[in-house]
Amino acid sequence: MKRPVALVTGASIGIGREIALLLAQQGHDLVLVARSADKLQALAAELHRAHGVHSTVIASDLGVAGSAQALYNAVQAHGLAVDVLVNNAGFGLKGRFVKLSLAGQMEMVQLNITTLTELSWLFGRDMAARGYGRILNVGSVASFEPGPEFAVYAATKAYVLSFSEALDAELRERGVNVTALCPGAVLTNFHDRASNDSKLLLSTAMQPQPVARAGVRALFAGRPVVIPGWLNRLAIFTVRLTPRRLVTKVSYWMIGKSPA
Ligand SMILES: NC(=O)c1ccc[n+]([C@@H]2O[C@H](COP(=O)([O-])OP(=O)(O)OC[C@H]3O[C@@H](n4cnc5c(N)ncnc54)[C@H](OP(=O)(O)O)[C@@H]3O)[C@@H](O)[C@H]2O)c1
Repeated sequence: MKRPVALVTGASIGIGREIALLLAQQGHDLVLVARSADKLQALAAELHRAHGVHSTVIASDLGVAGSAQALYNAVQAHGLAVDVLVNNAGFGLKGRFVKLSLAGQMEMVQLNITTLTELSWLFGRDMAARGYGRILNVGSVASFEPGPEFAVYAATKAYVLSFSEALDAELRERGVNVTALCPGAVLTNFHDRASNDSKLLLSTAMQPQPVARAGVRALFAGRPVVIPGWLNRLAIFTVRLTPRRLVTKVSYWMIGKSPA
């Protein structure tokens, strides 16, 4: 029997790798995407050994313009129809907006927003035509609040949440569910790449496995938004009841001000 196919971006490490493991456990064939071909190949072999599923490895830098269309074309060339799309690849940069490089921040917009949107359109259109599909977009608790020192990152994640909720409302009647997974801090490579050493924030960090589990569970339950961890849910509940200016101040205090 033909197995359903799930495509996971950012599957080489961290949350994406855990999501790929869970989807393989559930009997999906995988399309594994990230820049690190060696890590993806090793994961593909592991998934085959453990669960007997087939993985297609596509090494791609999704932070460059045109990469979503190229990925879609590569998937078509393999003759695969994607049933589950996981837009997980993403990164953040910590620091003051005018001190961080513009190129780095625009690459973040390309990966976290543009590529995610293009992949949702390309694969979402096929899913709607077939009358079935699931899209899991990885947002953040930063989706709910402005993030001084993470200004662009938090704004990209606000986009992911808003976009995912709207898309879910549009596509649900066509048999396609969209879920935004909004974790708080998670112990992954993210913080090294972002140069984030905020002790306060990292003291609340979760492991990637329960975060991935919450995302996959919510995806197949058809829930539009999931925030893993009771502490994060409590924080977001409080954010919703608090004036926006105060939320921004508290968020700044938690991250910690860098030198002007
Ligand atoms: N960790 C946290 O505290 C946290 C909290 C909230 C939300 N998130 C979100 O969770 C998602 C996953 O992050 P993570 O914590 O698992 O971080 P991670 O461990 O750094 O993993 C990031 C993944 O994205 C891939 N990636 C990065 N840049 C890429 C590019 N240009 N093209 C293709 N793939 C790329 C990486 O693979 P390669 O390096 O091999 O390309 C890796 O597989 C991100 O969207 C992040 O914003 C993380």
